Amino acid sequence: MIEPHKSVLLNEVLSLFEGAGEGAIVDCTLGYGGHAEALLDRYARITYIGVDRDQAAIDYATRRLARFGSRFSAIKASFAEAISAIKTPIAGVLADLGVSSPQLDNADRGFGFEAQTLDMRMDKNAPFSAADIVNGYDERELSRLFFEYGEEPRAKRIAALIVKNRPFHSAKALADLIAANLPRGRIHAATLIFQAIRIEVNDELRQLSAALDALENAKPSGAIVAVIAFHSLEDRIVKTYFKRWARSCICPPNALRCECGGARELGEILTKKPITASEDEARSNPRSRSAKLRAFAFKRAIF
Ligand SMILES: C[S@@+](CC[C@H](N)C(=O)[O-])C[C@H]1O[C@@H](n2cnc3c(N)ncnc32)[C@H](O)[C@@H]1O
Repeated sequence: MIEPHKSVLLNEVLSLFEGAGEGAIVDCTLGYGGHAEALLDRYARITYIGVDRDQAAIDYATRRLARFGSRFSAIKASFAEAISAIKTPIAGVLADLGVSSPQLDNADRGFGFEAQTLDMRMDKNAPFSAADIVNGYDERELSRLFFEYGEEPRAKRIAALIVKNRPFHSAKALADLIAANLPRGRIHAATLIFQAIRIEVNDELRQLSAALDALENAKPSGAIVAVIAFHSLEDRIVKTYFKRWARSCICPPNALRCECGGARELGEILTKKPITASEDEARSNPRSRSAKLRAFAFKRAIF
């Protein structure tokens, strides 16, 4: 079978879940089911709940994983909402953030530089698309968005260029305009702008923080949480949560002495530094080059 999406850091993810106990692995970003299939094959003791907000991904993965019978089930939802609703014991949580290759490559989804639409919604039923942002936000809002979510130093200039030339009806027209007006570096001149628009359309950073908040509330006993981030904003969020979860003293930083009694950590960080792709993987799958995998193990509750 030709895989529509090559799963990143697959062996590293498999090794991290070796310590996961019995129960369900919640895959927040099921996508085309590559990580799911490998984990279900490797660990006979686990069941698997796959979440995705893209119906095309859910349909494909459901066919791919049918051989696992009742060990696999799928939920079409945003992971922030799904994770707080799951009531079965959780052995692990995986989030392989961002977009899948079919989302990027399919010209009607509007994610890629050649796309003929300006859409970028992971969930095709979501009410708000890239066109609403590009054609509707004022220049200041666009500039803020490009600066905050794209970390694009030329945010102001690009916002002014867009406002002067809109409306846009395709990602290609937008990418071509930016490329024609800005010098090309190592990456396409519109890369960071597209990243910013995609994050805004899909509310990606809030989704991530809300899912981590839900896990912090649930404190799933013994669960392993593994997150693969593809840009620094996401990675920073994951790192900050994991660091906070691992603190044994939760007194405010300005407290003169510890009053919380210590031993308040929720568990331990399993990756002191993020795991990144090997040279071989980076060569064979360019998407893996920006991937950073961090993991955390919740401590087991004592009853
Ligand atoms: C990188 S792909 C996952 C690939 C998958 N791990 C595999 O091996 O095939 C990311 C997937 O997550 C989904 N996704 C991203 N953010 C989401 C969110 N907040 N809620 C639900 N699904 C999300 C996307 O629709 C996409 O299908």
